[in-house]
Amino acid sequence: MEPPLLRCLFALFLLTFAHSVLGSNICTSRGVTTCRQCLAVDPSCAWCFQEEFGKGGSGVSRCDLKTNLEKLGCVSVEFPLSSLKIQQNDPLSDKVSGSKATQIRPQRIHMVLRPGDTKRFTVSVKQVEDYPVDLYYLMDLSYSMKDDLSKLVKLGNKLALAMGETTSNLRMGFGAFVDKTTSPYMDMFPTAVTNPCASISDTCQAQFGFKHVLPLTEQVSRFTEEVKKQQVSRNRDSLEGGFDAIMQAVVCKDQVGWRPDASHLLVFTTDANTHTALDGRIAGIVQPNDGLCHLDNNNIYNKTTVLDYPSMALMTEKLSEHNINLIFAVTGVVVPLYKEYSQLISGTTVGMLDQDSGNVIGLIQEAYAKIRSKVELDLVGVPEELNLAFIATCLNGEVIPGLRSCSGLKIGDTVSFSVDAQLRSCPKEKSRTFKIKPLGFKDSLEVTVDFACSCECEGSAQPDSALCSQGNGTFECGVCQCHPGRLGPHCECSVEDYRPSDDANCVASSDGPMCSGRGDCLCGQCTCHANDFGQVWGRYCECDDFNCLRYKGALCSDHGKCNCGFCQCEAGWKGENCNCTTRTDTCMSSIGLLCSGRGNCECGVCQCTQPGAYGATCDKCPTCPDSCTIKQKCVECQHFKRGQYIKDDSCNRICRDEIIVVDNLGEAIGAVSKDSNAVNCSYKDENDCVQNFQYYEDESGKSILYVVKEPVCPEGADVLVVSLAVAGAILLLGLIALLIWKLVISIHDRREYAKFEEERSKAKWDTAHNPLYKGATSTFQNVAYQGN
Ligand SMILES: *[C@@H]1O[C@H](CO)[C@@H](O)[C@H](O)[C@H]1NC(C)=O
Ligand SMILES: *[C@@H]1O[C@H](CO)[C@@H](O)[C@H](O)[C@H]1NC(C)=O
Ligand SMILES: *[C@@H]1O[C@H](CO)[C@@H](O)[C@H](O)[C@H]1NC(C)=O
Ligand SMILES: *[C@@H]1O[C@H](CO)[C@@H](O)[C@H](O)[C@H]1NC(C)=O
Repeated sequence: MEPPLLRCLFALFLLTFAHSVLGSNICTSRGVTTCRQCLAVDPSCAWCFQEEFGKGGSGVSRCDLKTNLEKLGCVSVEFPLSSLKIQQNDPLSDKVSGSKATQIRPQRIHMVLRPGDTKRFTVSVKQVEDYPVDLYYLMDLSYSMKDDLSKLVKLGNKLALAMGETTSNLRMGFGAFVDKTTSPYMDMFPTAVTNPCASISDTCQAQFGFKHVLPLTEQVSRFTEEVKKQQVSRNRDSLEGGFDAIMQAVVCKDQVGWRPDASHLLVFTTDANTHTALDGRIAGIVQPNDGLCHLDNNNIYNKTTVLDYPSMALMTEKLSEHNINLIFAVTGVVVPLYKEYSQLISGTTVGMLDQDSGNVIGLIQEAYAKIRSKVELDLVGVPEELNLAFIATCLNGEVIPGLRSCSGLKIGDTVSFSVDAQLRSCPKEKSRTFKIKPLGFKDSLEVTVDFACSCECEGSAQPDSALCSQGNGTFECGVCQCHPGRLGPHCECSVEDYRPSDDANCVASSDGPMCSGRGDCLCGQCTCHANDFGQVWGRYCECDDFNCLRYKGALCSDHGKCNCGFCQCEAGWKGENCNCTTRTDTCMSSIGLLCSGRGNCECGVCQCTQPGAYGATCDKCPTCPDSCTIKQKCVECQHFKRGQYIKDDSCNRICRDEIIVVDNLGEAIGAVSKDSNAVNCSYKDENDCVQNFQYYEDESGKSILYVVKEPVCPEGADVLVVSLAVAGAILLLGLIALLIWKLVISIHDRREYAKFEEERSKAKWDTAHNPLYKGATSTFQNVAYQGN
């Protein structure tokens, strides 16, 4: 066994570690105080209901990600998971067998949903063949429909035959309507009540609102018989009370005889507009329609003068509830009007009736085909808190998000809808069942949702627990829920015990707000409030993890943690809002110098200091003194394919300039116009030729090098001429010098000769005394000779 102190220290370390490393997340930042609230924050949040959890560590939340709670050593974790189970999944039928046909799959689903969580399921719908049809013919018997009635008498058999093509199981029924039997809709003069047509010298049926004549029957002859017996009646205003009749025909399902397993067609024929809800007020009828059946023993609607006309919403609801497809077969004038009604009453179709109803068969067939060609899902009893998002997969696998219907189907086609059910918030009840139902179908999918909003640990709550200051609160899911009048995490404070002197411990400076205005002072200690933005802590609730510098809306630029007002930047970032990267590679220019040696790298961006330099790495600078030197290497490698950059294979990396070859720089200027961003450069290439080029940068920063086609080189021929000339000159000078020397010598010689001649002519000596004459013999005395 470890010593308790060690364990305690270890736990403290763990908690501190957890606080600094795990940081805040959506679960911890809300500062929730109960398990239920925690589950509602996010589906990823779990609640630790272990009794001795979080003691000694500040800012440790019982509501956290499950993994975090486990890391902190919590073993009692409340973490319900959403789930989905298909409970009944009978296959779709092809045909009606007996009276059974399955047109929707699956049939029953059970879901558990946590607030915020989403579960997906798929519903398939199929129109089976030879489905039974119930057809109820609801006819306007106001006077203008007289010719229609006589026509319908003849049509009965034909109608049955025509419908027999689509189903072998048809039932037909008949009902009639005029309007509310009261003024101003009808003439209430006593004789007019029994024969409203007396005034136009005709005999008519007595006034009535709605009359159910023939319950649905397989014997088509009965239909003809009953229709034959009918007579038109008459009312005063041009509008009729058709909606009253529709409501009764829909809801009186026993009298009318709608079969549960059949398509229900309610054919409504009229040539006039109809009264709608609130029109009853003209006759002083203010009681809203109750959507119930009120047929008396004679099958006559006997609340016609008591209840108002039904509203569109009520009709929609009842039609859907009883799976009845309403077909408005109306004459041309009122077609646009009924099209509008049809928009408001879902699942209805409109067809244009001839003046004498002669085309009604085709119209019904068409409408029936239309009804059968469309599948539209209706939702019944979906709780407000549940969001259902549909994605329809109609024919040919066409996927249409947001659509609850498919059209253009043939009998036997299957379509499917994928449904995302998301629980937005917690409803009051624990569970709810709703239905997804194709309009006009009996079958439906029943979905039961259990809302996973409450915690199981609430079940083992201890009322008046000793843990909450000797019974001053309920200990539930690891925390105290204090009784009224008690405060504090352990209900240790009482409202009555409040002593103002304690408050001094809760203010940082004498005039500051209590607990920095972000907490309550309980028993001289700040209990910091939960905050939507994050956690609040500190002795005076002065610290939090959300009030730090932001950059572009991101707390600490998303590169650091906010700790009590200061950003603690991640590695690689610095600055008070952590928006400054410590990277420098972004400043490295292509020639391998930070900011091309013309600026400083600050927060990964070059700040060019050299006047005239610009560009991400200050690489652009036509007017910099060294720009010609830098660009000359590019001219060499890009244009002449030689030089240092070709040798070390860096030409493509360093030089991105466009090269334009020109005949002379004047031409370049012509192309560019006068621009201060251009600079003339020249250099001597390896052949000692002078290469001129112009370096120009346009507004977009693209650099262009105008290179003069031919370099200027010293010409070979001149060298010869010059050397010959030099040699010639030297030779000439030599000759001249020789000549002068010769001349001087000659002159001197002549002078000497003349002098000689003169001397000779002056001297008159004979030859014997010629001073120049010397005897031919010479006597020498030998000094060494001694005698003989
Ligand atoms: C309507 O008929 C029903 C059934 O016959 C009867 O119970 C009811 O009292 C009648 N109501 C009126 C207002 O006549
Ligand atoms: C509440 O706590 C106080 C002292 O903390 C104690 O004296 C009192 O008995 C408690 N109240 C209840 C209802 O147990
Ligand atoms: C960093 O933020 C400061 C202050 O908002 C701003 O002046 C500076 O330009 C930002 N630096 C970078 C590199 O975005
Ligand atoms: C470059 O040289 C050309 C031709 O000699 C001249 O017209 C032009 O003005 C010079 N441009 C600059 C910027 O010195």
